[in-house]
Amino acid sequence: MTLINTNPCFHALIPAAGSGSRMGSELPKQYIDLLGRPVIRHTLDALLAVESLSRIWVVLAPDDIHWPRYKWPADSRITVLHCGGATRAESVANALQEVALHADAQTWMLVHDAARACVSPRLVARMIETLADDPVGGLLAVPVADTLKRAGDDGRVAQTIPRAGMWQAQTPQMFRLAMLRDALAAHPEVTDEAGAIEACGLSPRLIASDATNFKVTFPDDLAMAARLLGSAAESTK
Ligand code: C5P
Repeated sequence: MTLINTNPCFHALIPAAGSGSRMGSELPKQYIDLLGRPVIRHTLDALLAVESLSRIWVVLAPDDIHWPRYKWPADSRITVLHCGGATRAESVANALQEVALHADAQTWMLVHDAARACVSPRLVARMIETLADDPVGGLLAVPVADTLKRAGDDGRVAQTIPRAGMWQAQTPQMFRLAMLRDALAAHPEVTDEAGAIEACGLSPRLIASDATNFKVTFPDDLAMAARLLGSAAESTK
């Protein structure tokens, strides 16, 4: 397979069209306050700090009323798309159709959850360096440390799953624009980009990350994210 581009371009795509029902909040979780700013602002700032990202696409729900209420960084790399869909995969697929009108088919797309606000710019930069010449692409992930249990309908353990070789998928997930667009069109049922690429018979590369790149999902996660971002800000003073 010869996919290597001598001058590759790297774009980030942030799906932010979810309602965040697990957070139990009226406000979609990407807009919930975290240290005085919406969650997605921290995510955006982290990606803006990655110099090799030449564009950052933010994908909102078509009826999003929250984005205009905030002040956003005046950075020409940011473009907002109002094409979110019913699922995360649909939001990403819709956005890729629009991005394809402006970008080369071989552009590397780093799809990153709006709700992973503690992502490290250094880790994203390392991921880009590691995967820039990869024929498939890959994702940040963490080796599973705990023993895994499958629950039965009665709330009791139905099965213990061996954890050897198991990884927990995170984002960014980095694949070339045309490959990812075609994979998501063929496999819209997936819950992450890597799943669509795998369903096409390819093997994304796992890039070791850590637990700090977690997804703000439940109310308790906000306090953890505030602690992490607060101590990161302290250490740069
Ligand atoms: O709901 P979940 O935590 O899996 O969402 C992951 C990311 O996908 C979030 O940033 C969310 O806003 C986004 N999403 C989306 N469109 C949807 C559902 C989720 O862009 N329909």
